[in-house]
Amino acid sequence: MTGTTKTIHGEWSSRFAFILAATGSAVGLGNIWKFPYITGENGGGAFVIVYLLCVALIGIPIMMAETMLGRRTRQDPINTMEQLTEEAGADKNWHYVGWAGVSAGVLILSYYSVIAGWASAYVIKAFTGSFSNANAEAIKGIFDAFIGSPMQLIFWHSLFMAATMLIVVRGVSNGLEYAVRHLMPGLFGLMILLLGYAMTTDGYFQGLHFLFNPDFSKLTSDSVLTAMGQAFFTLSLGMGAVMVYGSYLTADISIAKTSVIIAAIDTIVALLAGLIIFPIVFTHGLHPDSGPGLIFKTLPIAFGSMTGGWLFGILFFLVLTIAALTSSIALIEPAVAWLVDSKGYTREKACIASGLVTWLLGLGTVFSFNIWSDVKLFDRTFFELLDYLTANLMLPIGGFAIAVFAGWIMKRQHSEQELNMPNAQYYQLWKFLICYVAPAAVFLVFLHVVGVL
Ligand code: TRP
Repeated sequence: MTGTTKTIHGEWSSRFAFILAATGSAVGLGNIWKFPYITGENGGGAFVIVYLLCVALIGIPIMMAETMLGRRTRQDPINTMEQLTEEAGADKNWHYVGWAGVSAGVLILSYYSVIAGWASAYVIKAFTGSFSNANAEAIKGIFDAFIGSPMQLIFWHSLFMAATMLIVVRGVSNGLEYAVRHLMPGLFGLMILLLGYAMTTDGYFQGLHFLFNPDFSKLTSDSVLTAMGQAFFTLSLGMGAVMVYGSYLTADISIAKTSVIIAAIDTIVALLAGLIIFPIVFTHGLHPDSGPGLIFKTLPIAFGSMTGGWLFGILFFLVLTIAALTSSIALIEPAVAWLVDSKGYTREKACIASGLVTWLLGLGTVFSFNIWSDVKLFDRTFFELLDYLTANLMLPIGGFAIAVFAGWIMKRQHSEQELNMPNAQYYQLWKFLICYVAPAAVFLVFLHVVGVL
């Protein structure tokens, strides 16, 4: 009965469309904004290796599991977990996994939208020529003045949230497929171009060295947790977003193949971002650990000095904004789908309700960069706390639960049927990773962080 349950949401027009949409959700600020700055904060090479291992051994198997669960029921995450629990005759509490996912999406989007707002503001800054011939110090000044202004941040955050909700209100596949189809090649082209620029800088090899030469003495248990959290974050795992996308997937498509392709594209984009940004960092005497502003303090230097930089700057920040948009719609979709499926809301009402809550929460992140920058809990600002709570805690815990559910609770016969692998060894490998490797890795990292190990 593979995927015979009728979907109430519509279906992707092809395997390619699904890959596009899932890649669109995966590739976003996580790759271009977050990966470089957390790599910078966590010492480079060793962190990158842990991150790559997490993507391969934990990320891909969990992506397959999430897609599979969604396709089986064709429902939002909360109903998916309820229905599958019933099918497996398991404990009712499993539906909390769906709940946690819906909340994580809203929490993440609340700060994601603020940062995406920065990217959109930078389209205008690039357009008005603010970066032309500016040095590193001037570029830093522009950034600091910008995030110091709550009104400007609120303006761009509001604009981005409005754009997200306008797309979500129209439902999946309308427009979304089109946007991603044209966006991904554009993003890729621009990044290759910037890589060309980075290769001509004096700091290129220093950047390369920083990114790929591991110094394991720099690795703390918290940076291992951050690397693992980033694997979940960048692949959009652990919160049911991929489950929702899987629920729109037709039965004939190989879940394994698509998962590997999506993870590979996502990883390449992140590494490209690192290869572009760190050479600029070292060439201009900047610090790799400058935090969330890293790309906004580095890339404009390149745009300000390279030939054609004016145009490339505009295009780059525009493409980054759109890449963020194709992720943001997937972050809010679980909440919207749930309000529609279970609460009987119309799609419009569901969008307004979830959008407003997310926008309000986003104000906390806005203020954490200016008027609340000194307000700290556990030594973290509101934004840092939210980021830690979602990426480092909620997503890995959600992923752990999904792995345990897919590996141990769901009947073997059902997962075998749904994954429909061409050969038995592949299925065995997945089963081993999802039953033992992924849950054990998450568990051990957590023990380490709380200091038990
Ligand atoms: N993967 C996205 C990025 O790298 C961020 C993200 C995390 C996400 N969880 C998600 C996007 C869920 C969509 C759905 O930018």
